Amino acid sequence: MVRKAWISAVSHYVPDKVLTNFDLEKMVDTNDEWIRTRTGIKERRILDPGLATSDMAAEAVKKLCMQRNIDPMDIEVIIVATVTPDMFFPSTGNLVQEKSGSKNAWSFDVAAACSGFLYALSIGTQYIRAGTHNKVVVVGSDKMSAITNYRDRNTCVLFGDAAGAVLLEPTEDDDKGIIDSMLFSDGSGADYLKMKAGGSLHPASLETITSDWHFIYQDGKTVFKFAVQKMADVSVDILEKNGYQGSDLNMFIPHQANQRIIDGAVKRLGIDYDKVMINIERYGNTTAATIPLALSEAYQQGRVEKGGLILFATFGGGFTWGSSLVKWGLEKPTT
Ligand SMILES: CC(C)(COP(=O)(O)OP(=O)(O)OC[C@H]1O[C@@H](n2cnc3c(N)ncnc32)[C@H](O)[C@@H]1OP(=O)(O)O)[C@@H](O)C(=O)NCCC(=O)NCCS
Repeated sequence: MVRKAWISAVSHYVPDKVLTNFDLEKMVDTNDEWIRTRTGIKERRILDPGLATSDMAAEAVKKLCMQRNIDPMDIEVIIVATVTPDMFFPSTGNLVQEKSGSKNAWSFDVAAACSGFLYALSIGTQYIRAGTHNKVVVVGSDKMSAITNYRDRNTCVLFGDAAGAVLLEPTEDDDKGIIDSMLFSDGSGADYLKMKAGGSLHPASLETITSDWHFIYQDGKTVFKFAVQKMADVSVDILEKNGYQGSDLNMFIPHQANQRIIDGAVKRLGIDYDKVMINIERYGNTTAATIPLALSEAYQQGRVEKGGLILFATFGGGFTWGSSLVKWGLEKPTT
């Protein structure tokens, strides 16, 4: 019997405030029709000023504990994937530990842009597999509105704020568990999607501020081409590597950056859209929160089957990309 990790609970948090395409039409030279046809996005959620990535993450962790009926004091490790930490240090993980009341946990952050959650999931899985820990929380949370330039139509239409979280626990049951992850990065893509300033290379200065270097910069076309290729490849490759094919899937949960990028991967997998979780129209790209948010909604909608095969696939700044394969272990929610 092999000790594995399984996802024993999943939750999400989204802010109440909605920013629609029609709101954006009043802010930049864009229109609802262009945004919907070029990206698939209709609206996104925006967190209030004065609140931060850790606040959304802590709400998701509290919901996780309620769902699993555990005390936050039972959590042993908290791993937060984010590109919008509340501050450089302390880590957002430490702040989430405090705000969620998880006093016994140790905590840290993982930075891998939109691939952050899958990177963190693979790290959390190792602690369970190694037998050193029994309750590991993995969170993806980003307040993208904090680093989005609402004067730049190339980026402000794409991103939103959210958090999602999973609880990992051990199992030796063959019918559930994290089966595999394939993770990649290519630093030669660094300049196509980045936030240039604020770090040790370009500390804040009058120049960095007046040059808008504290906002997301993206060469959309280059990122698009890379994303379509890599997300489709890594989706097919992990199935083949584990002896599966598209038709074996219960649910495909892709990163939600652009509907046309999702369509490319779905076509390569040869699956129907009833097996694909898509919520980009309501949330846009929420970076590290995207996959756990989509998983949590798919679970709440009763679309993931106990024993079902679930495929996650992502790509992001770095360039980073990857996929994970999971056998789902939870019954459908009763309420
Ligand atoms: C950003 C993105 C939506 C742009 O769509 P696109 O089809 O590639 O559009 P282009 O960049 O070719 O721009 C086409 C035209 O639309 C214009 N345009 C860009 N943003 C616009 C907007 N919000 N509203 C209206 N027109 C816009 C461009 O200026 C360009 O005009 P031009 O032809 O006169 O130069 C697309 O490139 C994309 O999704 N890239 C990947 C992004 C991504 O996934 N990033 C996150 C990684 S995690």
